[in-house]
Amino acid sequence: MKKTAIALAGFAMIGLGAAHAGDAAKGEEIYKQVCFACHDAGVAGAPKLGDKAAWETRLAQGEETLIKHSLEGFTGETGTMPPKGGRTDLSDEAVKDAVAFMLSKVK
Ligand code: HEC
Repeated sequence: MKKTAIALAGFAMIGLGAAHAGDAAKGEEIYKQVCFACHDAGVAGAPKLGDKAAWETRLAQGEETLIKHSLEGFTGETGTMPPKGGRTDLSDEAVKDAVAFMLSKVK
């Protein structure tokens, strides 16, 4: 009995984690409005959408780090990612959705 409860709690947590990561379908719209400006063509050192080689090492950092860098901004080896892609009026959820969309193209 006890084991079942623990297993169920584990599943519930996985479920929450997935919701937290963002909705790729919604994120496509945000991507097309904001993120594409740099990430479509690789402007200013941005990793291109769908370029697996460019995203491999970034994915290795884990999705949480990628989301944090997108929300707070980040300067890496190739350039500077502005906080929320320069659109600080976007909600955190919208940015997470956009990240989920971008990652769905390289996973
Ligand atoms: C003004 C150009 C620009 C815009 C607009 C932009 N980015 Fe970026 N982004 C960059 C650059 C440049 C990098 C690479 C920085 C580096 O690694 O040196 C980057 C990196 C990233 C990374 C990888 C972070 C990491 O830790 O490797 C993610 C995720 C990301 N951007 C998401 C987004 C999202 C989501 C949006 C739209 C809300 C967006 N970007 C809009 C320029 C931009």
